[in-house]
Amino acid sequence: MKKIVLFASGNGSNAEKIILHFKKSTFANVVTIFTNNPDAKVLEKAKNHQMEAVIFTKSDLNNDFVLQKLKKIDPDLIVLAGFLLKFPESIINQYPNKVINIHPALLPKYGGKGMYGMNVHKAVLENNEKETGITIHYVNEHYDEGEYISQHKVSIEDCVSAEEIANKVHQLEHEYFPTIIEQLITNH
Ligand code: GAR
Repeated sequence: MKKIVLFASGNGSNAEKIILHFKKSTFANVVTIFTNNPDAKVLEKAKNHQMEAVIFTKSDLNNDFVLQKLKKIDPDLIVLAGFLLKFPESIINQYPNKVINIHPALLPKYGGKGMYGMNVHKAVLENNEKETGITIHYVNEHYDEGEYISQHKVSIEDCVSAEEIANKVHQLEHEYFPTIIEQLITNH
């Protein structure tokens, strides 16, 4: 079985969709959820699905703690699903082409430092964009700049709040992210 690990910082709706998707798989499954936030809702979801969770601090991420945990697991794919800290180069270098992220906008627009979660959707609304979307991409040492794997668009002409945009983007994420992960891990 191929092993997927997830990193998430908040609600974990994407993490849950990915867990559910791979529960049915015969060739890959989610083995561990990593979070930097001890209060994250994703931890309840991990518990509900009897999934091992690792809670770590920002400094654990940048010293050896997280890397050592990963080495013990030996994952085939590391998925950042709503993970809001910068992912360290030391880990990326150990797992070339095996770390991917989902970003809630059509990069290169609305990317970079500070552009995460609702901040993205508020900026999209303020700019009167007619469409937004998601970008699934490899992670490199710069925020949101790794090679794109896929992008998907949605019209937001009828949206009057950042929350409505967020809902549409979440739907798109839930629809595409598990399938794209499956394709990637199959071709690895
Ligand atoms: C998702 O929309 C994801 O794209 C975004 O955080 C949200 C997490 O939702 N990620 C980023 O902004 C990363 N820069 P979730 O916890 O419900 O999956």
